[in-house]
Amino acid sequence: MAAAATPNSFLLQNPLRPSPKPLALRPNPRFSVSCAAVTSAPSTSPAAHAAAPGDRGIFNFAPGPATLPEPVLLKAQADLYNYRGSGMSIMEMSHRGKEFDSVIKKAESDLRLLLSIPDDFAVLFLQGGATTQFAAVPLNLCSSTSDPTDYLVTGSWGDKAFKEAQKFCKPNLIWSGKSEKYTKIPSFDEIPQNPDAKYLHICANETIHGVEFKDYPMPANKNSILIADMSSNFCSKPVDVSKFGVIYAGAQKNVGPSGVTIVIVRRDLIGSAQEITPVMLDYKTHADSASLYNTPPCFAIYMCGLVFEHLLEQGGLVEIEKKNAKKAGILYDTIDGSGGFYVCPVEKSVRSPMNVPFTLQKSELEKKFIEEASKEGMVQLKGHRSVGGMRASIYNAMPLAGVEKLIAFMKDFQARHP
Ligand SMILES: Cc1ncc(COP(=O)(O)O)c(C=O)c1O
Repeated sequence: MAAAATPNSFLLQNPLRPSPKPLALRPNPRFSVSCAAVTSAPSTSPAAHAAAPGDRGIFNFAPGPATLPEPVLLKAQADLYNYRGSGMSIMEMSHRGKEFDSVIKKAESDLRLLLSIPDDFAVLFLQGGATTQFAAVPLNLCSSTSDPTDYLVTGSWGDKAFKEAQKFCKPNLIWSGKSEKYTKIPSFDEIPQNPDAKYLHICANETIHGVEFKDYPMPANKNSILIADMSSNFCSKPVDVSKFGVIYAGAQKNVGPSGVTIVIVRRDLIGSAQEITPVMLDYKTHADSASLYNTPPCFAIYMCGLVFEHLLEQGGLVEIEKKNAKKAGILYDTIDGSGGFYVCPVEKSVRSPMNVPFTLQKSELEKKFIEEASKEGMVQLKGHRSVGGMRASIYNAMPLAGVEKLIAFMKDFQARHP
């Protein structure tokens, strides 16, 4: 049945209408790289929309929820009103209907393609954020609350996971970077692991501190398994999934909006959860029902599906990694080449290509830096409240032009504050 016309139906149905400019941004003639809406009239052509990320007038450096790919947002805009001619919004559909069934199946198969996920791993689309996995992991992988586990803590998120695990197992803190303000990752053979540990937990990329594992430790015990919180570098590069027992990630950084957490778990680890495990935290509940035990976060899963398609269209994670390395490389080079004006405290070998924290040597200028950047259309650059300074989150969907514009602004700001 055709949708009834409303005064706003044209706006709702036409994904290609020019976007309104949210901010009255004025181009700064002092630096040359600009985002499209700042300097030119918004385009109405589909090609221009697809080719000009950033044409909403800003570059969003938020750590999550974070910027999403423009083509994905435009596709979602159309499906939001009338999903592929069904007469229903993607948000209005039953999770048991045929349309959503194909959405979730396609999302899973595209993710399997992207990460080459072996068949002996299940992919679950869950709720509760990565924070819920801090409890779900020990509940599913330990047979009782007295089982020992190892935690290697390289930032605040790993520390939160360690603390939550204390309720459900006996976690052992085998290394913590806290005394060095989470700027390092130790060499793995320096770390004494517990040979009886059921698993070794790491946070693959610490979002607040900008520290990323470049390779992964092997658990000392051959029956033990490696568990990784990959929330902030999920699908930013290829990963050998077979090295892990469980990978989990909140979607809202690299692959979608908030509301869905993806868990990739080796199938033989499913089905031995502790008796106290709530049904919603038991991986078996969700593996047995293909993530449809109860109402799933349908819209968030649909959005992840669009992002996975978009990543595949760009050549998959090998290509994505190259793009990310380029963006991060030029930003870190600018910081390191600033003669100490900008400082990144993280040891070079473990710097994150996703979250780039930096401070100003003249810390009294940081507030001004953030305010001026925001006026120029570069928003959400304030560092996490626990560390201060600035943080540029440059996930997959941040275009190179956004990083180039930030760099041009940083150079100009430095020149104006000798
Ligand atoms: C690495 C990491 N782990 C866990 C979390 C918590 O995720 P959620 O808010 O989805 O529970 C975050 C959130 O930013 C994160 O960056």
